[in-house]
Amino acid sequence: MTQQKQTLEVNGKSFTLDADPNMPILWALRDILGLTGTKYGCGAGLCGACTVHIDGSPVRGCLTSIKQAAGKSVTTIEGLEAEKLKAAWEKHNVPQCGYCQAGQLMSAAALLNTTAKPSEAQIDDAMSGNICRCGTYPRIKAAINTAADNRKAEA
Ligand code: FES
Ligand code: FES
Repeated sequence: MTQQKQTLEVNGKSFTLDADPNMPILWALRDILGLTGTKYGCGAGLCGACTVHIDGSPVRGCLTSIKQAAGKSVTTIEGLEAEKLKAAWEKHNVPQCGYCQAGQLMSAAALLNTTAKPSEAQIDDAMSGNICRCGTYPRIKAAINTAADNRKAEA
């Protein structure tokens, strides 16, 4: 492992890390920056627990290296500004154990940022990579629809 100074922009702030450039950002976020809202599930791009945004698009933190994220804007659940989505999550009591929920919210927020009123198929497609062992899928879908409706009502 070669340590190198790396600069990462996370939630609007710039951080200089002394880290291996090949380290997945999941570990940089959790272990170096202490942003533990982003979760480790499978470590192989299969569960979505580690989802963050890079320049607004959802990526898997376990598969994205520090060097791939350098110079781009990383957003984690701690920095997510999606008040209507969060309110809808609360309204529908979406989380059960909660473990997958940061990743679910990041994927849902990215969907709503590109698609104001997604169809059922678009929701299924955007959320298909986020696994929930507690089976909260129906409530996740309901919350996404509520958030989309609320945004539309105020537009
Ligand atoms: S921990 Fe990254 S996709 Fe599962
Ligand atoms: S709420 Fe438990 S894994 Fe999704």
